[in-house]
Amino acid sequence: MAGNITFTMIKPDAVAQGYIGPILTKFNEGGYTVRAMKYTRLSRKQAEAFYAIHKERPFFEGLVDFMSSGPIVACILEKENAVENFREFIGATDPAKAPEGSIRKLYGSSIQQNAVHGSDCDENAVIESNFFFSQFERF
Ligand code: CMP
Repeated sequence: MAGNITFTMIKPDAVAQGYIGPILTKFNEGGYTVRAMKYTRLSRKQAEAFYAIHKERPFFEGLVDFMSSGPIVACILEKENAVENFREFIGATDPAKAPEGSIRKLYGSSIQQNAVHGSDCDENAVIESNFFFSQFERF
């Protein structure tokens, strides 16, 4: 059965451009409930660990540089079938291929600087949530 939580980050590009507020409003309009939220910055080591699954990819170094370049907002979101619904809601990884009005289309600028992260499966939603939040930081 599909889980009801997903993990997201508002990435450094979107934070730097002042899009935290508009993106949180979008989460709200999409019917997602915030269960945990943190404004923080990843060290290079933390970004490497978070994206370890992509270690062999040619874009890994650039991704780690980018994700550690400035503050991010990490959130656990709740909704029915959260992982799949949220991935559809934010749009394709490449903002150019995301639907009009989606978060990535509105606020992303490239396949790397695509405004938000979304977990790709229930198992990773749990792993990624645990990466940022203790049990006492979830409500
Ligand atoms: P995200 O959903 O955070 O998951 C992995 C990230 O890697 C992705 O969003 C993009 O930011 C980045 N990414 C994926 N594919 C590429 C690519 N071809 N070139 C550069 N960055 C990429």
